[in-house]
Amino acid sequence: MPKRIEVGILGATGMVGQQFINQLAGHPWFEPVWLAASERSEGKRFADAAPWRLDTELPEGIADRTVESAAPGAGPRLVFSALDASVAGELEQAFADAGHLVVSNSRNHRMTPTVPLLVPEINADHLSLLSAQARLRGGKGAIVTNPNCSTAVLTMALAPLRPFGLRSCLVTTMQAVSGAGYPGVASLDILGNVIPFISGEEEKIESETRKILGTLAGDAVEPHPLRVSAHTNRVPVIDGHTETVSVALDQRPSFAELRAAFEAFAGVPQQLGLPSAPQPPVRYLDQPGRPQPRFDAGRGRGMTVSVGRLRPCPVLDWKFVVLGHNTVRGAAGAAVLNAELMQAQGLLE
Ligand SMILES: NC(=O)c1ccc[n+]([C@@H]2O[C@H](COP(=O)([O-])OP(=O)(O)OC[C@H]3O[C@@H](n4cnc5c(N)ncnc54)[C@H](OP(=O)(O)O)[C@@H]3O)[C@@H](O)[C@H]2O)c1
Repeated sequence: MPKRIEVGILGATGMVGQQFINQLAGHPWFEPVWLAASERSEGKRFADAAPWRLDTELPEGIADRTVESAAPGAGPRLVFSALDASVAGELEQAFADAGHLVVSNSRNHRMTPTVPLLVPEINADHLSLLSAQARLRGGKGAIVTNPNCSTAVLTMALAPLRPFGLRSCLVTTMQAVSGAGYPGVASLDILGNVIPFISGEEEKIESETRKILGTLAGDAVEPHPLRVSAHTNRVPVIDGHTETVSVALDQRPSFAELRAAFEAFAGVPQQLGLPSAPQPPVRYLDQPGRPQPRFDAGRGRGMTVSVGRLRPCPVLDWKFVVLGHNTVRGAAGAAVLNAELMQAQGLLE
């Protein structure tokens, strides 16, 4: 195996940080050598700082690694960030200013005009915003982001419909508790219950979706004209965000044409054969009761999004259900795919 690129993880002890460790275990291109978190964890063995909360084995060599201070300039050039949003804004900026390439999950820089908000199957071309960022920053570091977890899932289902003219979209989410990090939502609040409010989530879905589906215009992205209205709910599911979606389209495609569009959807990651690229990226399920988080969230090692229940909508034009793994396709797996695209385009050299 050729020498792998050393990478760091900021916020390695959290829900998404652990998913990064999981995604990078045995990765053919990247080797996690530096794990950083808050002062609470700094200096401790990883296993003492953060009990492993995934249903996989803790990858070899991680338990005894010392959790480092999240100090800009320390650690490898390429860092994945799973920092809490309360600190990610300033810290990621400081890492980029110190020359790091920050591949982030946090919301803080997603809507900055020169920061790519990437879903590589949909808008790989938005990576060229990095040249505008380099001019502003003096050519040193950079920040690249992936969307909010529900937006990641939604856009994977909307992108195949772009050729039919996306006009408006109504989405209602049923979001897993792992999306709230650890310890997240108190069990007494969520067990046997639904919470119809997730702070800031609806605004993120409504704005990020339009940037992701938008087109490059100089040093920024012209948002897609699609109108999006989101209702967000937290439900007692561990992993996997389910979303019911109604769309209005400019054209009048048939059921068969829409189903075929979901099935045929692929992008640059599949063409390049990137290590984390799922095959297929979108799977259409014909069974009437699917997709379901328990059976479908892990599809394609968490990177394939499942769509089902496509049918006419009496208010808009068509409606369907989409489901994706929130900490993989909606977070760590998405960021690893972003870094793979950067490597394939020679941007990590
Ligand atoms: N969970 C999801 O499905 C999901 C999906 C998409 C995006 N995101 C975003 O990804 C980020 C991480 O989410 P999460 O769910 O993994 O949260 P989390 O479980 O609460 O983890 C937060 C991480 O940030 C670290 N941290 C907090 N304050 C810090 C500081 N001052 N300096 C350095 N590190 C600090 C924590 O370290 P300690 O353990 O030492 O406190 C921990 O490693 C958030 O911005 C979130 O919005 C999450």
